[in-house]
Amino acid sequence: MKIGITGGAGYIASHIVRDLLESGHELVLLDNFVTGNPQNVPDSDSVILVQGDVGSEPALDQFLAHEMDTVFHFAALKAAGESMTDPVKYSANNVRGTFYLVERMVRAGVNNLVFSSSAAVYGAPQYVPIDEDHPKSPINYYGFTKLIMEQNLEWMSQRTDLRYASLRYFNAAGYDIHGRVRGLENQPQNLLPIVMEVAAGMRSNMQLFGRDYDTRDGTCIRDYIHTNDLSTAHILAMDYLRKEKQSLTVNLGSEQGLTVQEIVDEARKVTGHPIPVEDAPRRPGDPASLIASATRAREVLGWRAKHSDATTLVESMWSVYKGAMQ
Ligand code: UFG
Repeated sequence: MKIGITGGAGYIASHIVRDLLESGHELVLLDNFVTGNPQNVPDSDSVILVQGDVGSEPALDQFLAHEMDTVFHFAALKAAGESMTDPVKYSANNVRGTFYLVERMVRAGVNNLVFSSSAAVYGAPQYVPIDEDHPKSPINYYGFTKLIMEQNLEWMSQRTDLRYASLRYFNAAGYDIHGRVRGLENQPQNLLPIVMEVAAGMRSNMQLFGRDYDTRDGTCIRDYIHTNDLSTAHILAMDYLRKEKQSLTVNLGSEQGLTVQEIVDEARKVTGHPIPVEDAPRRPGDPASLIASATRAREVLGWRAKHSDATTLVESMWSVYKGAMQ
């Protein structure tokens, strides 16, 4: 039975693609290459590529024409700041695309969906660590798109044979520790790839948004989770859906907080580059601290983060970015 992967050439999906191929699966990838990188599509007889948009009905029909029992749905835009200035783009890509996909999956009898959700569904934390029962009150439109899709999945799973795993990622980072994924993200907007671009000479400096937070060094704390750890969780979630035939919503985080300054310091150490930092005002909508409780993922999936310490995160990214040095 094949596995379908939307956004299959994207940053996170390309790690899962490698792991699934190595365990002998046949894959159908759907990607429009807007943010996905063609370099990430493995040259393998076990991979079929459908080039198209998840919001395009013909592309979805072509994708689902292949016999599959599970879809991993990664295709989405993910820049929270941009979602506030261009919500229509996020509505069209994230919301409409997912609604189409789910409708078509149900009609085609493809019943297992592993969905890339986000800690952005929680909004400003009322307490940390954040567990899955924390109130859901997104503070950016991106988080709203993920929440509304989760709610749609809940309804659909009650009224149809669809089962889903909503995986709420905290801050995804790192590159494949086995060196199998080397395609860089296009115009990244997250901290770690920006730090790496400075170290590789692709930009001259970076801005650090806010040093006056109530944290150990005044900069924001985030829970960074390595893509290899995310990959393991996705495969466990697929196995859970197939075996237990029940839906699931879990946080995926390391349960460790790192400050922005700690990330910059680690990157200076690993890369040997001074990484010039310009202090900038707080970025609107940034909470001081976001840390996951991953208890449910541990209990239900037997999963825990193994590669999400600062050194592994930065070293694995640098092994890819140093190849792009200018
Ligand atoms: N930061 C900087 N300079 C930069 C970029 C980021 O100082 O150039 C800081 C931010 O202010 C923040 C931290 O680095 O304090 C992390 O910022 P990111 O933009 O990398 O990530 P966010 O925490 O804002 O959001 C990320 C994803 C969201 C997801 C969220 C879940 O982009 O999609 O994690 O925790 F919802």
